[in-house]
Amino acid sequence: MKVELYERLWMWAAAALIAVFIATTVIGTVVAGLEPPSHVETIDPAAVWSDARFAHPGVTMDTARVTVVAVGMTFAFVPNVIHVPAHRPVTFRLTSADVTHGFEIAGTNGNTMLIPGYVSQFTTRFDTPGEYLIVCNEYCGLGHHTMSGRLIVDGATP
Ligand code: CUA
Repeated sequence: MKVELYERLWMWAAAALIAVFIATTVIGTVVAGLEPPSHVETIDPAAVWSDARFAHPGVTMDTARVTVVAVGMTFAFVPNVIHVPAHRPVTFRLTSADVTHGFEIAGTNGNTMLIPGYVSQFTTRFDTPGEYLIVCNEYCGLGHHTMSGRLIVDGATP
């Protein structure tokens, strides 16, 4: 079968693009350690504040783990300032008390959606002490642009 030159070029270009897309996914997963949140845990969004898992948002720390419990609501994160230690795995457990919000720790790979009815959980670590901005990156209403918080990573700068 005869395939015109330009048609052949386009076919190879399309195949190359697909190969690049697959490669970025594989590299992102294997090298950069990015993964979609797969933790599935439900919660009654109307009863977040009386639910034992979220009644006391904040940071708990013991020798085994650092856990951050936080809630997104229009238009704030509770707690608004989060202190975690550097160089240790930190597990974030998050949910929304009303509508869908985002929870993005700018400049890090900490980023998830807060979906009413679900608990979002991810674990990451911060090797650079300092202050990070937490932003809501899902449009959630008129005050969306004001919805932010701060993550303070405590520790000596290497
Ligand atoms: Cu919360 Cu946008």
